[in-house]
Amino acid sequence: MEFDEVVKGRHSVRDFDGTPVPEADIRSIVEEAGLAPSWGDAQPWRVYVATGKVMQQIRSAHEKSVAEGVRGHSDIPTTHRVTWGKQLRANMAAYNQLTNNLPADAAQSSEEKACLRQEGKDGQDAINSAHLQHPQHSQNGAADGRPAHPAPIAISNSRLFNAGTVMYVTAQKHINEWHLLDLGAFEEALVLSAKNRGYDTMIAYELVRYPEEVRRALDIPDNETLVIGMCIGHATDAPINDLRVHHMPVDQYLTIRS
Ligand SMILES: Cc1cc2nc3c(=O)[nH]c(=O)nc-3n(C[C@H](O)[C@H](O)[C@H](O)COP(=O)(O)O)c2cc1C
Repeated sequence: MEFDEVVKGRHSVRDFDGTPVPEADIRSIVEEAGLAPSWGDAQPWRVYVATGKVMQQIRSAHEKSVAEGVRGHSDIPTTHRVTWGKQLRANMAAYNQLTNNLPADAAQSSEEKACLRQEGKDGQDAINSAHLQHPQHSQNGAADGRPAHPAPIAISNSRLFNAGTVMYVTAQKHINEWHLLDLGAFEEALVLSAKNRGYDTMIAYELVRYPEEVRRALDIPDNETLVIGMCIGHATDAPINDLRVHHMPVDQYLTIRS
């Protein structure tokens, strides 16, 4: 693919068809991301990939924690959004407005809808129960400093986007803010390399919200910080995957002085 196509074609996908990614592609993508720059060439990244039964185990544990209303406690601390800068909050408000306008069943693919019909289930009932189980909608409201999510976002997040393969990125303790910059470069290289090979991706805090379930399933040592996760695979036809957010016009964040 042309580089432009890769960069412009990438967007977050929130419902995957669950097909696992072949090991050879995983290796190539991670190897390419490993060419990312880092301070002093420290290369703070480690990657653990969950697929098959291990992925199922993580998803079940996650759904249970969500249903029980367990508050998120990622290794990298979150801060409440009210403490974020003005421009950041304005961008997030625009994003929230877009997601609030999604139809309630936007996270369901046509295949899922057909399955629900076959099981004699009412699609709306399934949405209501999954939605209400998500702690963002509990009495605690903005758990983890996040605002209440609209139904399709809550549903897709709580089932870890139905991904068949997730790449978890960790770093040796103790990481500092410069290491996070290196890891951001690594993560962007991962999504672009994946896109170049025809894969969709989803970077999400939700994947590391309950770190112990991921550590247990992947045997991640205690001296590593679980930083972020990325789903990889193929998008379904669920309308949520058509969501295109607003990216700021360049003049809003670029200054050139000569
Ligand atoms: C570090 C990070 C964490 C994110 N966490 C979540 C998440 O937990 N749930 C979610 O639905 N989206 C999450 N996102 C996706 C963002 O909402 C998305 O990247 C942003 O809206 C821009 O949209 P785009 O990726 O389609 O361009 C996360 C993205 C990043 C980079």
